[in-house]
Amino acid sequence: MSDELDGLLARVNDPALRADLRAHVRRIRAKRTFGLVFESHLPERIRLPEHPIRASVKVASRDDTDSSAFQVLRVDDGRATIRKVRHPDGATLSSEELAELVDEERDVDALVVIADFGEPVYPGLRRLGSEDRGADKPAHVVIKGENHHVLEALQFTHAGKVDCIYIDPPYNTGARDWKYDNDYVDETDGYRHSKWLAFMERRLLLAKQLLNSDNSVLIVTIDEKEVHRLGLLLEQVFGGCRVQMVSITISPRGTSRTNEFSRIDEYAFFVFIGRAGVVGTSDGHDAEARWQYLRRDERTSERAAGRPNQFFAIYVNDQTGQIEHIGEPLGPAAGRDSAPARPGCTAVFPVKADGTEMVWGLTGPTLADVVAKGFVRVSPGRHPYQRYTISYLRGAAKNVAKGRYKVVGERNDGSKVVVLEGGKTARPTTVWRETAHDAGTYGTSLVRALIGDRHFPFPKSLYAVEDTLRSVIASKSDAVVVDFFGGSGTTAHAVARLNRQDGGRRHSIVVTNNEVSAEEATSLRSQGLRPGDPGWEALGIFEHITRPRITAAITGETPDGEPVKGEYKFTDEFPMAEGFEENVEFVELTYLDPDDIELDLAFAGIAPLLWLRAGATGPVLDECLDSSGRRKPYAWTERYGILFNADRWRVFVEKLPETATTAFVVTDSQATFAGIASELPSHLDVVRLYENYFTTFRINEGYA
Ligand SMILES: C[S@@+](CC[C@H](N)C(=O)[O-])C[C@H]1O[C@@H](n2cnc3c(N)ncnc32)[C@H](O)[C@@H]1O
Repeated sequence: MSDELDGLLARVNDPALRADLRAHVRRIRAKRTFGLVFESHLPERIRLPEHPIRASVKVASRDDTDSSAFQVLRVDDGRATIRKVRHPDGATLSSEELAELVDEERDVDALVVIADFGEPVYPGLRRLGSEDRGADKPAHVVIKGENHHVLEALQFTHAGKVDCIYIDPPYNTGARDWKYDNDYVDETDGYRHSKWLAFMERRLLLAKQLLNSDNSVLIVTIDEKEVHRLGLLLEQVFGGCRVQMVSITISPRGTSRTNEFSRIDEYAFFVFIGRAGVVGTSDGHDAEARWQYLRRDERTSERAAGRPNQFFAIYVNDQTGQIEHIGEPLGPAAGRDSAPARPGCTAVFPVKADGTEMVWGLTGPTLADVVAKGFVRVSPGRHPYQRYTISYLRGAAKNVAKGRYKVVGERNDGSKVVVLEGGKTARPTTVWRETAHDAGTYGTSLVRALIGDRHFPFPKSLYAVEDTLRSVIASKSDAVVVDFFGGSGTTAHAVARLNRQDGGRRHSIVVTNNEVSAEEATSLRSQGLRPGDPGWEALGIFEHITRPRITAAITGETPDGEPVKGEYKFTDEFPMAEGFEENVEFVELTYLDPDDIELDLAFAGIAPLLWLRAGATGPVLDECLDSSGRRKPYAWTERYGILFNADRWRVFVEKLPETATTAFVVTDSQATFAGIASELPSHLDVVRLYENYFTTFRINEGYA
C-alpha cells in the first residue's frame, strides 16, 4: 500500500505540489492511532517585520486580517508586485486557480516578509534596556518575542541547564485570547483543541531539551477546559517522568457558572524529571517555620480601634541591631514622642508606611518572654516611620513543646532556627487552599498597584507562583527558571522575592509576545493603525504590561515615577516601594537578515546570546571594537570571553580571568578549535563559533 502511494506521488509533475503531498503523507503516516490523537496542523509561519521587501521574498499582509502568502515579483518606488502562493489556511493553489491568477500591487509598507516551516531563520537578540540593582547577581532576562523561536534560540544558550520551567499557557477557553499561526482561535474553530495541542506539543518538546535531565521540574497551570488533554500530552512528551496534579484555590469566593458548580480552583501539573521532587520531603530538607510581622496589619488592629496594651516602644540598639528594652504602653491619647528616649537606641512603634498607627501582635510582657526564648528577629526597617522591622514566630514555644517545631540552630543575633518537625506538617499536599493564592487580590489588584490602570487579563497571584516555585527550587539558590508564557511577568517577580528571602542568586528567563487583545486590535485598526506601527506596538503585552510591571516591582516605582503603594503581605512583609536588589535585562528576539551574513554586521545581534549562554552575569560584550572602530582580536569580561582572531589564542589564554566560566572561539577549523580548547581549563565551557555566524545560529529547520 505505501509503495503504491509512493509510486503515485512520484508521478505528480508539479514539483511543489509533489513535495507538499509527500509532506502530508509523511505526517499522516507518523500519526498515532492510540493515545492522544490530534492533527499536527501546518507549522506556524514566522513573520520577519524587519526584513526588507525585495524581489523573490515571500510576504503576507502586515495587517493580520488576511493570512494568504505571496511571492514578491518586483519592487518599484515603494510598490510591490506580488503573486499569491498560498491560501490563508496554508493550502497551495490548485492548477485552475494558478491559471486564473492575477498579480496584485501593494504598498511595500502594507507587507511583511514571512518564512514557512523548513526555511532557515537566524535569531538574534536586541537589547532594549536594563535595571541594575543587583550588583554581580545574574540578570533576569525578559524577552519580547514569539516563544517558539525563543525556545529554539535558547537551545544554544540553555540546553540541559534549566532547573524549572513554569508556564501558564492560554487555557483555550474559546475567548479570542490566543493565536495559532497568527489567527485567533475561538470557540467557532472546529480544530480548536487540536490546534492548541499542536501549539503546546511543539513548545513542550523544545522545553524538554532545556530542562536538566538529572534534576528539574516543569510546571504547567491549566483549568478544566484542557486539563485532560494536557495531562495526556505531558505523559506522552515526558514519558517515564513522574507527573502530579495539584488543585489551587485561586478564587475563594467562586466564579459562578450557569447550571454548573461554582469554580474556585484551577490546576498545576508538576512533571518531575530525574531526581527532582518536592522540597522538604524527598530531598530531606526540613521546611523552615514561617516568621510573621509583629506589627498587626488589618484595619481592626489600628491603634485607634483599641488594645492600648499593644502600643508601646520597642528599643532597638543601633550598634547591635537587637532589642534592648521594651517600653510601657502609651495611653490612648499619648503621642509617640512622649515615650522616653534611650541613648544609642531607636524607639520602634507599629506604624505603617503611610503613617497609620497600628498595634503590635503581642503585649510587652509576652514579647519579652518570646524575645528571651529566641523567637523574635530584628531586621533593617523599610520606611521612615519604622527604622527596624520586627518579626516573630507565632506560637513557637507551644509548637516546640508539642513536637510540631524543632529548634535546629541559633543565628548570630541569638534568634533560633526553627523547622517544622520532619518537614511533615510542611509537606505540601495536592490541594492548596491559601487566601494568598487569590488571583483577584494578589494578581489583578497587585498588578494595578504596580502599573496603574493598564489592563491585563488574569495575572496569577504573585504568592501562588512563589509557593509553586518554592516547592521545587527552595533549596536551589542559583536556580535558572524559565517562563515562556510570561504575561505580566509574575514569575520574575516571584523569583526576586524568593531571592530576597534567602539571599539566593536565582534568575529567570521570561518570554512573552507583544500581542494586543482582539478588541484592542479592532479599535486600533479603526484608527488606521497596523501591527508594527509604534502606536500599535506600544499597547502590546510586552511594552504595555510585562516590561513596566517588572520594572516597577524591581525599582519600587510605578511608570509615573511614584513609589508603589502598599506592602507585600505573605511570608514576609515590607513596602513594595522598596523594590528588589536584582538585575534585569530586557531584550527583543530579532530575525537577522541573511544578507548581513558578514560577521561584522551580524555580531551585534548575536552578542546578547553569548552573554546569556555565559550565565547572564555582568556586562554584555557588545561590539568589542577598539578606539579606531576595528574589532578587537579578543575580549574578556570577568565571566566570559570571545576570541575573534584564532592566531591570538596565546594572549587570550593568558588573560583568562579566574572567575570566567565560558570561552567562545571563532574559527572554522575543528583542529584549531580543539587545540585552543585543550589550552583552556577543563571547567570552562568552551564553545566554537563559525566565522559565518549563521552556521551556528539557525532555527526553523526541522520540527514535526
Ligand atoms: C495566561 S497568560 C500568562 C499570565 C502570567 N502567568 C501572569 O501571571 O501574568 C499567557 C501569556 O502568554 C503570551 N503568549 C501567548 N502565546 C504566545 C506565544 N506564541 N509566544 C509568546 N508569548 C505568548 C500571551 O501574550 C499571554 O500574555
